[in-house]
Amino acid sequence: MDQVSRFDFIILGSGIAGLSYALKVAQKGRVAIITKKNSAESNTNYAQGGIAAVVGKDDSFEMHVKDTLEAGAGLCREDIVRRIVEEGPARVNELIELGMNFSTEEDTTSHEKTLDLGREGGHSKRRILHAKDVTGREIERALLKAIAAEPNIQILENHFAVDLITSRKLGLAGADRCLGVYVLDKARQIVLTFAANVVLLATGGCGKVYLYTTNPDIATGDGVAMAYRAGARISNMEFIQFHPTCLYHPQAKSFLISEAVRGEGGVLKTYDGAEFMQAYHPMASLAPRDVVARAIDKEMKRSGSPHVWLDITGKPARFVMSRFPNIYETCLKFGIDITKQPIPVVPAAHYQCGGVETNIDGETGIGGLYAVGEVACTGLHGANRLASNSLLEALVCAHRAADHAMDHLPATELVGLPPWEPGTATNADEMVVISHNWDEIRRLMWDYVGIVRTQRRLQRAQARIKNLKAEIREYYWDFFVTSDLLELRNIATVAELIVACALQREESRGLHYNLDFPDTNPAWATRFTSIQRSWSAGVTSS
Ligand code: FAD
Ligand code: SIN
Repeated sequence: MDQVSRFDFIILGSGIAGLSYALKVAQKGRVAIITKKNSAESNTNYAQGGIAAVVGKDDSFEMHVKDTLEAGAGLCREDIVRRIVEEGPARVNELIELGMNFSTEEDTTSHEKTLDLGREGGHSKRRILHAKDVTGREIERALLKAIAAEPNIQILENHFAVDLITSRKLGLAGADRCLGVYVLDKARQIVLTFAANVVLLATGGCGKVYLYTTNPDIATGDGVAMAYRAGARISNMEFIQFHPTCLYHPQAKSFLISEAVRGEGGVLKTYDGAEFMQAYHPMASLAPRDVVARAIDKEMKRSGSPHVWLDITGKPARFVMSRFPNIYETCLKFGIDITKQPIPVVPAAHYQCGGVETNIDGETGIGGLYAVGEVACTGLHGANRLASNSLLEALVCAHRAADHAMDHLPATELVGLPPWEPGTATNADEMVVISHNWDEIRRLMWDYVGIVRTQRRLQRAQARIKNLKAEIREYYWDFFVTSDLLELRNIATVAELIVACALQREESRGLHYNLDFPDTNPAWATRFTSIQRSWSAGVTSS
């Protein structure tokens, strides 16, 4: 019996990148969306601030490009920035046509409804389209509703992509090509084989590699780890963005306080209640994220305080409650009335600026394998992502990758694929090993590879991760695979890649701040750090 499931397109992940791509390629063939939890569970679902796009009358592509390049600290690929910014409005319109409800406001003179544009750090204009403070939830709702009406698309929830199947791995001659993927069906605890001519990685980011993060549990860097194991080039992983304002509360798990709160007048204050951001940047509390996160880190270390404050009490309570209903309600549950009290906040790992290196059409170096969204490194973000540019990038690149894949479908038949080899696997009875290693990696990444780094700490992290990886490898091959074990293996790989890229970059730039190389080195201005399994590890020029 043929145990291989065959599709024209396989999509790994059901966030904005995977879902918007699926809707396009479904015109051309059968599509499977493989997603490791329920369909909506993704970083996308938690996005608060919104999507940056040039739609305001007083805005221009030039200004959005300039702000993106400035935030990116000299490392963005300008041609990519320009194309993504210029194609943004058309993609946002498609979302609206699909039924996405962005917040609107009434024009005071014409009384017509226009899009309400928010402001965030590093943006010189109001250009953030949002659905109050639950933009991501509304995006997932609109996309999943459209997907449900598409007969060509099948969503497989609670299916965990384990590894890519490539022609090189199978020892086939010719240029390397992705042929499919092994997938753990979590309910049945069996590994299935899926074949397709096109595989899209849309697996999102890796916030869970760090002890403190704004990301939900799905964000374990699985796509980067799988692509690395398959031989794709991984770039710029040292640029992990720390969001300056995650709620500090013992019972709150990963709750973000949107940058839009500062965009609407929220002010950062020290533990003692003094404003401090003016000393760090002319844009004060609205400076780019790398500057704000480092400033908070410095103030907390200087004073030994557990957090700083974000104060929006200067705004009318009615405005705060209607503009930020989710933040207001959530904080209230923790006993904080944000209309009357400042919010305790700390920085936390938020966004992976690097990833699987692709061109603007999402092509990786492996034929048939595309990557779009947070998992990919197109060069848009450079050394630091401008707020709300990631949903924009995912929309634009998903559209382009879909067009590209449909235009380049290979004429060849799918080859036969071998089933997953479970080896001598037996059920694991040492869950404590997994949970111990999981905690250890996340803590050491926080302590040694966080907002401020040194060569010594990076080297220490490297040595420790090497040992942990050896332990995990032994465990992985000896025991039956579970999603916990697979995620542990992936966060260890991603941690290793972050450290390897950080050690390559002997300067400070954007999100990568190293006390041993505190200055920006112009010689590194166009260089991406990169690492590729077995073949080479080094630096590429953009
Ligand atoms: P995701 O939305 O993360 O989707 C990844 C999908 O892949 C999920 O469905 C996941 O379950 C699945 N998956 C992962 N691994 C596997 C596997 N092994 N097998 C099967 N499935 C897998 N960006 C903005 O531009 N504006 C914002 O306002 C904004 N706010 C944010 C707020 C928060 C709290 C967070 C965490 C992020 C925010 N971001 C924002 C960043 C942005 O949300 C993400 O970069 C973006 O949503 C990523 O989309 P994606 O489709 O690439 O990945
Ligand atoms: C936020 O709302 O602060 C998040 C915006 C982003 O990450 O782009």
